Amino acid sequence: MQKIILDTDPGIDDAQAIAFVVAHPELDLLGLTTVFGNADVETTTKNALIILDKFGCPTVPVAKGAGQPLVQARMPAPDFVHGGDGLGNLDLAKSKNTALDESAAEFIVRMANQYPSEISLVAVGPLTNIAEAVRLDPSLPSKLKELVVMGGTVHRFGNVSPVAEANFINDPHAADIVCGFDWPLRIIGLDVTLDVMLHDSDLAQLRDKAGQTGQFIWDTSRFYVDFYTADQNLLSESNPERRCAMHDASAVVYLVERDAFSFTSGVARVAPDGFATGQLIIDRKPNSVGNYALPFWQNRPSVEAAMQVDSERVRAAFLNTIIQHHLI
Ligand code: RIB
Ligand code: CA
Repeated sequence: MQKIILDTDPGIDDAQAIAFVVAHPELDLLGLTTVFGNADVETTTKNALIILDKFGCPTVPVAKGAGQPLVQARMPAPDFVHGGDGLGNLDLAKSKNTALDESAAEFIVRMANQYPSEISLVAVGPLTNIAEAVRLDPSLPSKLKELVVMGGTVHRFGNVSPVAEANFINDPHAADIVCGFDWPLRIIGLDVTLDVMLHDSDLAQLRDKAGQTGQFIWDTSRFYVDFYTADQNLLSESNPERRCAMHDASAVVYLVERDAFSFTSGVARVAPDGFATGQLIIDRKPNSVGNYALPFWQNRPSVEAAMQVDSERVRAAFLNTIIQHHLI
């Protein structure tokens, strides 16, 4: 079993990622850590607890994390994408469960010490908790199996600015800190996630064949599908069916379908402010040692960023796993 901690800002597509992780028989979810992003952190934490109840695993621990970015002011929550409550404005009842007393960063560090080199940490929200965890324990990268991040874009246009993706622009300082540590770091960004579409016919299959889990994914996805279907620029395909991008779930499917992704590698920086704030830049010059006129590219490790994806394989893995293995 692959141990996983999912750092998340639920979030409609975050809920889809959680559904995949709890259903997949080879993935062992040690806990969810929450962060601001799609809503404030009180709301994303409340949502994480609701989602675990709905998917039949209420005992999975939840550790509440950062409510603000490291440096910049918090950006307004994208209520036009995920609804004012982060889950499609369904007026969902609160869970009876509560978050742990320890913070997200403390939970990540504690688990990494308990299971050295065994954990895949997957971050699908702003990277504030991950930056705080490496500040707490700078040896954390050597204690994890890997860090997988949904965020950024290299070739494709952004979804918040011409160059920036939402998770990176929400805390660009944290993203740049994380890219400067020497983990095995794989970035699953818009370059690939905008190629992995869930159509309404896929979501209807989940609703009809995946019990309460599938019904919840269908119900919450109505708001998100409306947004994605209205914004043709966010889509790479011409199929007119109602659909949404499978951002966060693509990052967790990567754990079990690694060959479906291909990567470029290089030193990565994230622009901290100005009109390019949140832009992920990868030094793709062959054999580069970072010796440019300015020092920003020296003495930093290489990261890998996904550039191509077998979208049919990822989509099928997502649907089949939830249909065959949903808990309730
Ligand atoms: O850009 C996509 C990301 O931003 C996803 O993590 C989604 O949940 C939103 O927060
Ligand atoms: Ca997210």
